Amino acid sequence: MSATRRASRRSAAAASSEKTAEKTSASAAGSIDSVMQETRWIKPEKDGPKHGSIPTAAKLKSMRSKALKNPEAFWEERASELEWFSPWTKVLDWKYPRAKWFTGGKLNVAHNCIDRHLTTWRRNKAAIVWEGEPGDVRTLTYQQLHREVCRCANGLKKLGVKRGDVVAIYMGMIPEAAIAMLACARIGATHNVVFGGFSADALRERIIDSNAVCVITQDAAWRRGSHVMLKEAVDAAVKGLKHVANVLVVRRVGVDITMKKGRDHWWDETLDGMNDSCAAAKLPAEHPLFILYTSGSTGKPKGILHTTGGYLTQATYTSNIVFDLQEDDLYFCTADVGWITGHSYIVYGPLSNGASIFMYEGAPNHPGPDRFWSMIARHRISIFYTAPTAIRAFMKWGDQHPAGHDLSSLRILGTVGEPINPEAWMWYYKHIGGERCPIVDTWWQTETGSIMISPVPNVTPMKPGTATTPLPGIDADVVRRDGTRCKADEGGYLVVKHPWPSMLRNVFGDFQRYKKTYWSEYPPAGDRPAYYFTGDGARRDADGYIWIMGRVDDVVNVSGHRLGTAEIESALVSHARVAEAAVVARPDEIKGNALVAYVTLRGASAKMSGRALEKLAAELRAHVAAEIGHIAKPDDIRFSEALPKTRSGKIMRRLLRELAAGGSISGDTSTLEDFSVLESLREDED
Ligand code: WT7
Repeated sequence: MSATRRASRRSAAAASSEKTAEKTSASAAGSIDSVMQETRWIKPEKDGPKHGSIPTAAKLKSMRSKALKNPEAFWEERASELEWFSPWTKVLDWKYPRAKWFTGGKLNVAHNCIDRHLTTWRRNKAAIVWEGEPGDVRTLTYQQLHREVCRCANGLKKLGVKRGDVVAIYMGMIPEAAIAMLACARIGATHNVVFGGFSADALRERIIDSNAVCVITQDAAWRRGSHVMLKEAVDAAVKGLKHVANVLVVRRVGVDITMKKGRDHWWDETLDGMNDSCAAAKLPAEHPLFILYTSGSTGKPKGILHTTGGYLTQATYTSNIVFDLQEDDLYFCTADVGWITGHSYIVYGPLSNGASIFMYEGAPNHPGPDRFWSMIARHRISIFYTAPTAIRAFMKWGDQHPAGHDLSSLRILGTVGEPINPEAWMWYYKHIGGERCPIVDTWWQTETGSIMISPVPNVTPMKPGTATTPLPGIDADVVRRDGTRCKADEGGYLVVKHPWPSMLRNVFGDFQRYKKTYWSEYPPAGDRPAYYFTGDGARRDADGYIWIMGRVDDVVNVSGHRLGTAEIESALVSHARVAEAAVVARPDEIKGNALVAYVTLRGASAKMSGRALEKLAAELRAHVAAEIGHIAKPDDIRFSEALPKTRSGKIMRRLLRELAAGGSISGDTSTLEDFSVLESLREDED
């Protein structure tokens, strides 16, 4: 292989390394300071591989400008790449802030992801290549996937699940998770996948809020050699809930669990003897496909609602253009199906394109830190999509792990979830991609449903640390508080100026919250249409590249997962000893951010000290894990007699953030109610 020769040629030619740091200043119109400047360019090779629907930079440019001029015509073309049972009569019906796409059209997501490939040679192509954590491997062709999905769909029907019902899915990364999602889509049930790392309480809250009638789970999941007891958590979560009539349980690990008669059913027994075919329901384009809960800045998680036609149109288009999917690719996205990435870029987008997806059950460092590299080498995986937090962990585990495996099958790398620091980008490029694979840094959100900002591989010149420019069809921009456009390099707010097909349609059961969170920062004003508010701060550089600066609300990004600080605070306050809590983030080398909780105690507990406090801190961390899940556990708990507040009683999180980061307090403290609080918090730091 000429990989190393090519690599050195390219790094000499393209990866010139020059970095400067400068500060852009804030303006009265409400912009944000930006301090990062990265000027390295990594340009695609002139003779680099080119395929897919966007072969050249010129074509990309013309697509983009055509789409900006007439977005509806652009999206209509994308939608016609799917199979519809009946055509739409209207592309976009937009009545601020309510969007409907492809109204009048009828289709089925499972039909598009499976059935339409069965009439081609892809019938016998691998849809899913799966590796279990213990090392077992299963492959499902499109034909086999069709059979399993139909049997599951018929099983759900037998259990009384109907079109429009909500089905909660609480599983690990096994093929049955994808089968369950597709089976729901097939019969028009709306799925609500809850990440298997969430606690029973968090699951219960999501089951209640979505009014689920059925839960699909498994006995237990494999994780780092031990068992995650999923069915046990489901038992606790559904206790006393009358609306949950059935629980369907996949036998994965073989541990002992209790099965409640009449309510609980084994997957294999229920599906046994089910018919191999099940007609795909002809669903309106706006039929609810799924609800997925995500954190917000106030206490309760938001059920983000996605529908059928627009969602699949954009998930299909972006999977194709961002990953340049080819027939012989094996595509590996390391996300969990419990997150939006797992929905759009493990299941729906790639399968709709007829791609072969690789799915892995377990931990990235089991049995050793080279597990991913070993799988890439053994299965000849060609596209690899992961998160910056994982990349930073790989860096820490050491270069020898990827170096010990043949990674020459890789041709495209991707990242998502948080800004990737340029050092991690360069490491990924060099040690995983052998300096020959483009990296697609993809910006999007649970709410956007699909990728919005990303390079097109082998076409867009890259700069480490930026998702580059919006994809054709997406009108994203950086604006000031007053809605005017930021100048180059002036920090502001990332907004989307025109509705897009895979946008969220609602916060389940709470239209006011939907309107307030996303559409009230930039409501229609004169000739200006409403802008969708992403909650991210950003800067557009002189080349038009967008740099994400992080969240501007009380939401923190830990390991690529969004957590609402209010949710963690309310978990802490639900502990009998806690009077008040404020949770903020501090920078962390691996996780991006670590969580710091400032806690004041109630009554007599306030007098606790030494060992007793240490024990309480451990107890509080376990309490948050039980209430929400391990991902939300504060890294540090700092006890304090009081929290810094404004005169109107608002906790001054900005001060706590500065303290937590170990820095000094700068900026304005004139609204602080009691200066001595700050002094005592500072002393506690030492
Ligand atoms: C938030 C969305 C989209 C799937 C994973 C997270 C941050 C996401 C990037 C990126 C910089 C990013 C943003 C965004 N984010 N991708 N490539 N560069 N920041 O989904 O939990 O809905 O979080 O993640 O802050 O708003 P999510």
